[in-house]
Amino acid sequence: MVSSKVFLQLLSVALFAFSPAAAQGNNTSSGSKGLKPGQIKNLVTFGDSFTDTVEVHNGGTQWPVYVAGYANVSLHPYARSGAACSNNLTTLPQAFPSLFENELPTYYNDTASATGKLDPAKTLYTLWIGTNDLGDNALLTGTSKELGTSKASLVDVTKCIVNWVQDLYNHGARNFLFQNIINLEKVPLYATDSWPNRYWNAQRNTTEWSVFMRELTLSANALTSLQLQALAPTLQGAHIGIFDSHSLFVDMYNNPKNYLNGTAPLNVDGAVSICVYQLNGDQSNCTEVEGTDRDSYLWFDELHPSEQADRIVAREVAQVTKGVTNQWTTWLS
Ligand SMILES: *[C@@H]1O[C@H](CO)[C@@H](O)[C@H](O)[C@H]1NC(C)=O
Ligand SMILES: *[C@@H]1O[C@H](CO)[C@@H](O)[C@H](O)[C@H]1NC(C)=O
Ligand SMILES: *[C@@H]1O[C@H](CO)[C@@H](O)[C@H](O)[C@H]1NC(C)=O
Ligand SMILES: *[C@@H]1O[C@H](CO)[C@@H](O)[C@H](O)[C@H]1NC(C)=O
Ligand SMILES: *[C@@H]1O[C@H](CO)[C@@H](O)[C@H](O)[C@H]1NC(C)=O
Ligand SMILES: *[C@@H]1O[C@H](CO)[C@@H](O)[C@H](O)[C@H]1NC(C)=O
Ligand SMILES: *[C@@H]1O[C@H](CO)[C@@H](O)[C@H](O)[C@H]1NC(C)=O
Ligand SMILES: *[C@@H]1O[C@H](CO)[C@@H](O)[C@H](O)[C@H]1NC(C)=O
Repeated sequence: MVSSKVFLQLLSVALFAFSPAAAQGNNTSSGSKGLKPGQIKNLVTFGDSFTDTVEVHNGGTQWPVYVAGYANVSLHPYARSGAACSNNLTTLPQAFPSLFENELPTYYNDTASATGKLDPAKTLYTLWIGTNDLGDNALLTGTSKELGTSKASLVDVTKCIVNWVQDLYNHGARNFLFQNIINLEKVPLYATDSWPNRYWNAQRNTTEWSVFMRELTLSANALTSLQLQALAPTLQGAHIGIFDSHSLFVDMYNNPKNYLNGTAPLNVDGAVSICVYQLNGDQSNCTEVEGTDRDSYLWFDELHPSEQADRIVAREVAQVTKGVTNQWTTWLS
């Protein structure tokens, strides 16, 4: 006969085995998801030209600099223009720095010493990447380096991007904000009514580019989300949030009056800085919007968000950094 004490122990083991927490694997943290108010003192940013604070592509100040001010945190910027996730997968025309071969090694080197070390509990890591991996000269046009016998695919690229969390976790990082890919099919470079520009002046079918880019961004975002959901329960003590840049930019595109505040008519299809090229030529006509009119635009040039769009990104990421609930952010752990 089983004593009541042993029976209760067996029952609790059985109940635990079938509890949702057990089904999802071990607990990821002390129970609460996301960040606590006032917890974060350092912001470490990774990514491409959307985030680069040295070579700035919005005609003004980049969003991480605004976040540092809005949330009063110290900024450690590692994003580099032209970056793809890994040069193993994506070979761009120039030898651009990449996340895995340049940005992460530089960060690890900078924080290897006792003085460079950042307190994991007080540090939030962000990644906004994918535009170059998906874009022209990469997945969109099919140019990518041989990966053994097969070519790099969207699956390889998203695995690489998600591995940023695991790699930093292995080096002690605990708080992650993953910024997904925007509606690139609306950026002038990839829009249906595009023109020959500084990023692409060769013949192309703009409708096909836009349709394919929409598929690539939606698929990439679904793949990274699913992979992060699978990864989150395996990383004890980690907090992983997905910042839905895609939905935010779709909302800015559809409801610009809620975000854009310049002195010109609101504009979500043009750009502050445009260069119209001759097909296959190196001659172009450029126009540049000046002053307070700039804040009426969603895009800065044919590829990049405007400074006002970036201020909105910064406002929202600052809210996350402060540990406040944010409408674009879902915490997985
Ligand atoms: C839970 O953690 C234990 C001990 O660390 C480990 O052996 C086990 O594989 C983990 N289970 C899951 C589902 O991650
Ligand atoms: C998971 O967290 C709950 C609540 O903090 C705790 O009661 C439980 O023992 C934890 N389980 C594991 C496997 O760590
Ligand atoms: C900003 O942070 C610094 C360092 O943590 C602190 O000394 C200062 O009081 C903060 N400023 C504001 C306005 O909160
Ligand atoms: C790139 O390839 C090298 C050589 O095969 C490998 O050691 C490295 O881990 C790869 N990097 C990534 C990010 O996959
Ligand atoms: C690593 O950091 C040291 C100083 O901390 C610097 O001298 C060295 O150039 C760095 N190496 C790389 C590869 O960044
Ligand atoms: C461009 O692609 C679209 C969609 O495939 C097609 O309907 C259209 O005919 C193409 N235009 C040209 C000029 O080839
Ligand atoms: C638009 O709003 C931002 C704050 O989001 C402000 O910094 C900027 O000066 C405003 N632009 C204009 C033209 O008023
Ligand atoms: C620039 O604009 C002028 C005047 O409209 C035009 O004659 C010229 O061909 C244009 N150049 C290019 C490179 O499009």
